Formats: sequence, structure tokens, C-alpha cells
Amino acid sequence: MQPTSTDPITILAIESSCDETSCAISRDGVILSNIIAGQAVHEQYGGVVPELASRAHLQHIVPVVDAALRQAGCTLSALNAIAFTQSPGLIGSLLVGSQFAKSLALALNIPLIAVHHMQAHVLANLIPKSAAARPGPALPSFPFLCLTVSGGHTQIVLCHSPLKMEVIGETLDDAAGEAFDKSAKLLGLPYPGGPLIDKYAQSGNPARFPLPEPQIPGLNFSFSGLKTAILYFLQDHSAKDPDFITANLADICASIQGRIVSILLNKLKKAARQTGVKDLCIAGGVSANSGLRTAFRELGITEGWNTFIPPFEYCTDNAAMIAITGHYKYLSGDFAPLSVSASARAEW
Ligand code: KG4
Ligand code: ZN
Repeated sequence: MQPTSTDPITILAIESSCDETSCAISRDGVILSNIIAGQAVHEQYGGVVPELASRAHLQHIVPVVDAALRQAGCTLSALNAIAFTQSPGLIGSLLVGSQFAKSLALALNIPLIAVHHMQAHVLANLIPKSAAARPGPALPSFPFLCLTVSGGHTQIVLCHSPLKMEVIGETLDDAAGEAFDKSAKLLGLPYPGGPLIDKYAQSGNPARFPLPEPQIPGLNFSFSGLKTAILYFLQDHSAKDPDFITANLADICASIQGRIVSILLNKLKKAARQTGVKDLCIAGGVSANSGLRTAFRELGITEGWNTFIPPFEYCTDNAAMIAITGHYKYLSGDFAPLSVSASARAEW
């Protein structure tokens, strides 16, 4: 259905880049539904198994899309466009979402919108909030800076407009989410370990075990040295006391989390001072971390920033962020041909 200028714009969005199958419906940028199906099958393997992820997406996609339409009270004939995650991600997972999106767009004869997953994480900060949860502006003003921290990426992004973004800093090796997950694995915790480190850290002392902060020039990050330092630290202590990890789990988790958070926020502070930007956001799975959320808000007060954090459900992978990005792309007429293909890696 092609809208006139006053008609609402209704978008169905699909996210399937890793191990969450998600579908959201937005109307004029407001999220009407956001259904997410996780995949517990990977837990026993200590990480996402790509082939199993693709198969689970195939099982989940129809029920998830159906549930999103029902919850939104929306019919297929009300849709104006289909948005989907085109890149980056696991290719088999992306193919399920992209083929489904293309088929639906073709069947309904409506435009297709290809979305970059990392751009969508940033734009999760532009999803309107139902009621202001706290004082201050509801949405960031342009230009703003976003620290995007996920399982595969760590970036500082300078956003000039919804569709014009510049990566001004990124990790040279592991992503922040990987630093959490690999540390958790060394502690014997299951995948994904980030949320578990967060949970144990809440009753721990972050100053108990000092860990090194890498000295990386400019606005880039590195986490591989920290991972090695944690490995040796745990090996040394466990050699002297086999119960070291169990007896000190909360303090170890708090120390690891504290160091990852300070590495992230020190670079963000540097980026804000260099650019003079005062509206700052965080995004991506690691922005669900309670230590990062608190420290970011506190730093915002001392630095005089307006700080923005997406609600939990829009931090880890979700289709609502694909819908809001699709909405802005729709407004600018940025549509993809049916010949578009999914891509495991892609620059913005
Ligand atoms: O954005 P996301 O859901 O998927 C990717 O695009 O990668 O991010 C997943 C990452 C995982 O590494 C996971 O451990 C981490 O986000 N994560 C957390 C928390 N919740 C999710 N890390 C630390 N604390 C959390 N509460
Ligand atoms: Zn993600």
C-alpha cells in the first residue's frame, strides 16, 4: 500500500543476524510490537553454532512474524514496507531473514529496505519512549556520539543525522561483548557470559583485583591484552588455591566488569572532549550491562552531557531497532531492489 503524505507509515521489520529471531511493527516510528525468540540450543556448546542458528531461525520466523502482527493489531495489507537486517552477521542466519523479507515484499508488492545492523543499534536511541522515564530531553539531538558495544563490534560513532554516521573509533581486536564472554568462559560460566558477569558483579568489589588498562592511541580500543591478563591472573591464583574462582567469584566479576567499563568510558570521554559533542548515547548488547549504564550516567553528570540509554529490550538484538532505521530510510526513499543479498561483513 503506497501512503499519501498524511497516511501513517507502517513497517514490518525482521532481525536475524545472530541467534535471535525478531519481528517488530512500527507506525510512524512508534513501536507497536517487538517479538524476540531466543535460541537456547547454543548454551551447551559455549557459543553460537551457525548451522544450528540458521535452522532455529527457519523454525521461528513464521510464528514470530505472526505474533508481531497480532500484537500490533496489524494486517499485512496495512504494511507500507518490509525492513530487514542485511549485514553484518552470520550468513546462514541473515539469509533466513532476508529471503523471508524479500518474499513478503514481493508478495505484497511493497518496498524492501535493507538495514545495517550496527546502524540500527545506534538508532535504537531514537525510538520514542512512551513516557519520559527521567528528566531531560527524551531523544538525543544531532550531532550525537554513540558508544556501540555488542558481541562482535565496539565502536564510537559520530551521528550527524539518522542516516549519516561516521565511525571515529573502534576495536583493533576483540569486541567488548567478547571480552565479557571470553572472561566468563575462563571462569567456567556458560554462554553468553556477559549477563552472568553483570549479575555476580553486583555483589562484588571492583577494586579488589586491579587489572591493566591498555594504552591504545586515539579513539580505538583493544581487549585482547586484558583477556590474556585475566587468563594469567586466574591461572596464578588457581595454582595456589584450587577454589580461588568459586570463593571470589563476585569480586573477580566486579573487577573484570569495572575494567571493561573504564576502558570504554575513558575513550568515550576523550571522543566527547575532542568533538565538543554534548549528547551521548550507548547501544548494543553490552549497553544492557548495569555497571556500564550506571557509570555512563555518572560520567554524564560530571562531564555535563545529556545521556541516553535504550530500554533493555532495545539493547540486545531486536527488530524494533531495524524498524526505526527502516522508518528513516523510508522517509528518505532509500529502498533496496529484490536482487539485494545478505552480507556477513559490510562497511556502512
Ligand atoms: O548486540 P548483541 O545482542 O548481539 C550482537 O550484535 O553481537 O550483543 C550480544 C553481546 C554478548 O557478548 C553478551 O554477552 C553481551 O552482549 N551482553 C552483556 C549483557 N547483556 C548482553 N554484557 C554484559 N552485561 C550484560 N548485562
Ligand atoms: Zn547486535
